[in-house]
Amino acid sequence: MSVYTRALRPALFALEAERAHELTIAALQRPSVVSALRWRPDARTVARLPQNVLGLDFVNPVGLAAGLDKQGTAVPAWAALGFGFAEIGTVTPTPQPGNPKPRLFRLRADRAIINRFGFNSEGADGVARNMAATIRLKSDTTTPMRIGINIGKNKDTPNERAAEDYVRSIDVLHPHAGYFAINVSSPNTAGLRDLQERHTLRTLVERVVGRVREQSPTRTIPVLVKISPDMTDGDLLRSVDAALEGGAVGIIATNTTVARPALRSGRATAEAGGLSGAPLKATANSVCQLLFRHLGKGVPIVGVGGIFSADDAYERIRSGATLIQVYTSLVYEGPGLVRKLLTGLDGRLANDGFTQIDEAIGVDVQ
Ligand SMILES: Cc1cc2nc3c(=O)[nH]c(=O)nc-3n(C[C@H](O)[C@H](O)[C@H](O)COP(=O)(O)O)c2cc1C
Repeated sequence: MSVYTRALRPALFALEAERAHELTIAALQRPSVVSALRWRPDARTVARLPQNVLGLDFVNPVGLAAGLDKQGTAVPAWAALGFGFAEIGTVTPTPQPGNPKPRLFRLRADRAIINRFGFNSEGADGVARNMAATIRLKSDTTTPMRIGINIGKNKDTPNERAAEDYVRSIDVLHPHAGYFAINVSSPNTAGLRDLQERHTLRTLVERVVGRVREQSPTRTIPVLVKISPDMTDGDLLRSVDAALEGGAVGIIATNTTVARPALRSGRATAEAGGLSGAPLKATANSVCQLLFRHLGKGVPIVGVGGIFSADDAYERIRSGATLIQVYTSLVYEGPGLVRKLLTGLDGRLANDGFTQIDEAIGVDVQ
């Protein structure tokens, strides 16, 4: 048992979930905490993990999923923990409070979370300020971590004008983005998932990619699309094709689900919102396989959903993911999770005779 699961987790879990989240983020902004958490891997134990993906160097394939650092206030902490990349956001162009509280629920017996935050965001300007401030703390970081920025639309913006919202956030945030993720898959903004319809999505992605090129003519900023696990296979592939036709170069699969597979946690399971964590693993893994079968190795897939262990991470890579992300497992397992995933992944690759992670991507997909 780690210090986290023995001491810290019981203290945090005794608090209301969003309060625990706020305290954690506040602690992770303190330089002393960042120093205490810092973990430098022995290069030999993670030698198989670096990759160049979409023109970006990743020291390892394990990333922080969107939603944990929505305001971009804890970037040095993610680097110190050993993440290869962190996705900030979702950011909306204009600040908005999100849904009424409570809106975050632990399903402990299921190792899961239900949330219905609804994009509480300090807005693009606020997040840009936060990130500029943390970049001054760059000396606190130990790894050259990549930063993605996940963007969404404001609640009050009708879908016909959604593209204007995405484009406004790009105008403000592009200097900070290693990549952009277009979020059309959160279940907590009414109508957002309708943007996954193929004609709508293609036009939206075209607008976004065009604006990214205008704003950043010399540095290529890849645009990825984050999709929902709640579509039929046919709709999902149509959405993905539309995203690629529009100029997206990678897919993040998946966001939280509105489905409620058999759950054991009692009252909280009835809450509305997106379900994440262990119950999402099987679905997210099969979406990954479906996408890899369709796309092959040319279009990187970022696998996310229910990854708790090195076995889960390795399974997702073998199911076609080039990179992976975690959120819910970090809440349950604590900061040591990243080290466990990285050393465990490297060990599994070595055992199976792979010299580089790239060789294992999609090997289980027929
Ligand atoms: C509390 C919470 C908030 C989230 N907020 C966002 C968000 O703002 N944008 C987004 O694209 N995904 C968001 N997600 C989804 C995660 O990025 C991820 O896709 C999902 O939780 C599945 O991964 P996991 O099982 O490792 O948590 C959120 C997830 C949780 C648990």
